[in-house]
Amino acid sequence: MKRRKFIQNASLSTFGIAVGTSVFASETKTSISEVSNPKSGTSGFPMVIATWNVNSSTAEAWRVLQEGNSALDAIEKGCMVEEANAEGQSVGIGGLPDRDGNVTLDACIMDSKGNYGAVVYLQHIMHPISVARKVMEDTPHVILAGKGAEQFAISEGFKPIDLLTEASKKAWEEWKKTSQYKPIINIENHDTIGMLAIDKNGDISGGCTTSGLAYKIAGRVGDSPIIGSGLFIDNEIGGATATGLGEEVLKTVGSFLIVELMRQGKTPQQACEEAIGRIIKKNPDYKDFQVGYIAVNKKGETGWYSIHDGFWVTKYQNDKNENFHSDFYDKK
Ligand code: GLY
Repeated sequence: MKRRKFIQNASLSTFGIAVGTSVFASETKTSISEVSNPKSGTSGFPMVIATWNVNSSTAEAWRVLQEGNSALDAIEKGCMVEEANAEGQSVGIGGLPDRDGNVTLDACIMDSKGNYGAVVYLQHIMHPISVARKVMEDTPHVILAGKGAEQFAISEGFKPIDLLTEASKKAWEEWKKTSQYKPIINIENHDTIGMLAIDKNGDISGGCTTSGLAYKIAGRVGDSPIIGSGLFIDNEIGGATATGLGEEVLKTVGSFLIVELMRQGKTPQQACEEAIGRIIKKNPDYKDFQVGYIAVNKKGETGWYSIHDGFWVTKYQNDKNENFHSDFYDKK
């Protein structure tokens, strides 16, 4: 818990909520930049970029790409690394539960052909990203929810497990003593994992996986599994994905907006900044919550931006697996 950095800690109306409450998954940083605003960033592919400091995940995705596999394979394998990390309390096993003590997971995946699959409110399954891929590839549907999603996963061979670790149970029991919602708007290193990849053929895919807001009301679903909000890919243009307070991303359909802005000629950086600007313009409470975006265009040029300080990005490109401290809007 010592790595936690509470950027702000103010009440967020009735539902002041912990955003990105997680323990940092210990990662080896290969290189760290200062606060970065990659206006003239590097380009090229294959490449992979992800929200937060998730070097092990990007390394796995890169390995899959280097073997000549598709961006879709790289996304699934890369996201699985974080989902299996029990120390990360915002994704997969070990995720912080809802207010009733249930760990519920949301995830989606999108390929270069515009296919999309998602699971929402999935319980007891370690790898929602893989179930989302099965929804996309093996069913005529795009989203499966709750018990139905769990039954589908089990029918596809996924083993049901208890996702609530001792550490997350302890944190929940501690929270229950006051049941007080507080938005912990930014833990330095981690929240939802959104990942975008381009393979050697120049085809783009993306994925997004999360346990959502800690101590949320049972049944709450965030932006991460929703096409256009937590993730959007258009193989002619590029892709974008989000982390942070899902409600705000949903209301502005953030990832679709970023891809459409790139279609109109904006760089990935300009598009991310404009999407953050839309949230700020519409919401005077922006000081109480965090949102971060990452984006990539068809050339492999990237951008990232957040409302507040504390957002990090990992990019594996041109043989380098690097962490970047994102530039942000709220300079006080
Ligand atoms: N961005 C994750 C969530 O709000 O659930």
